[in-house]
Amino acid sequence: MISGFHFACPGEIFFGEGCVNSNAPVFSRCGQRAYIVTGRFPPGVKNLALEDTCSVLDGLGIAYSVDDNTESDPSVESCVEMLQRINGFQPDFFVGIGGGSVMDSVKCCNILLKHPGRDPYEVLFDNGEHVFGVGGPNEGLLPFISIATTAGTGADITGVAVMTRADIDNKCGTNKRCFANFVMVDPRYVMNCPTKLNQATAVDALCHGLETYLSRGSADDFMTNFIAERAFALFASFKDRLLTDTMTEEDSVNQALHSTLQGICIVNEVTGVPHGLGYPLSHYFNIPHGLACGVFEGEYLRIFKDRTRVDRALALMGFGSVDEFCEYIQAILTPHIHLSVTEADIDDWTRVFCATPWRMARHPEPLTEDMVREIYRRALAKFIVD
Ligand SMILES: [Fe+2]
Repeated sequence: MISGFHFACPGEIFFGEGCVNSNAPVFSRCGQRAYIVTGRFPPGVKNLALEDTCSVLDGLGIAYSVDDNTESDPSVESCVEMLQRINGFQPDFFVGIGGGSVMDSVKCCNILLKHPGRDPYEVLFDNGEHVFGVGGPNEGLLPFISIATTAGTGADITGVAVMTRADIDNKCGTNKRCFANFVMVDPRYVMNCPTKLNQATAVDALCHGLETYLSRGSADDFMTNFIAERAFALFASFKDRLLTDTMTEEDSVNQALHSTLQGICIVNEVTGVPHGLGYPLSHYFNIPHGLACGVFEGEYLRIFKDRTRVDRALALMGFGSVDEFCEYIQAILTPHIHLSVTEADIDDWTRVFCATPWRMARHPEPLTEDMVREIYRRALAKFIVD
């Protein structure tokens, strides 16, 4: 019996081929001056989403400025610099076209724009306890349209901005403070993603689903379970071809939908243990975010004493056991991850992780510092050099 639930997805979502062109009035509703934040594409790869957006804005007579100077894993400082460029243009609204780094930059700048002259670290991070559920509204922020060009980060839907922080020498998410008002997901934009990026983002989306599905309290969260379970089945439908780089057009649509659904899950829940464990790998070794989380997901699944929900998720994803899941993830990770870590690194990262009580508390069973260290040790065993 369902006892009731709370569910919200603040962004209005448009999914499907051609959704930017067919929903042009959405842009007019946001204003007459658009600041477009995007990334630089490799030579020879077209930014189709940017082309579509500019064509729509031209047709509507909306002025725009394109800023492709986005830092990967953006630092607070890079956003402060972007803010100066934004202030020079005086936009009515933002359009983010890209993956997680672009969306996080837009969110960070949108929040900072509201607090001129204040210390950016104070504005972004000194905002009270971590908020679960949907969190605060976009009060006072400019409208924001997100258009994803990768299928996995969920950043186009969530309200969190993950920033590189110089003050703590690590990555850290803000509270849920800036949601895209309109989320446009056109699967065509992700079809030409390089294999490594595509696999990393798919693993990221999968981690979002797993971590929310398995987090404390989620067993009673009807909507998260409903959506995550459907998304796990979608992942099962394309996972083998994702590994062999033989994705079909239908697979790409399913991958985009999988990412969108798992993104909706983290709007209402929050990422859990593997995401927190993975930040040092991205921060110190430039391991793509999705792969960094994936490194720890298998060993994390092993620590559950109550296996009921872990086994259900594995079955829906098409895996017969945790070992099978680990083998699959390893096959994706192995070509891309080269690093050397020491026991002292692991001790440091364990201490930093355990100093974040809310993340420790996401695990539904007792979690100790020794258990965290052991996940690090087992997942990174082949990279430890002392
Ligand atoms: Fe993520």
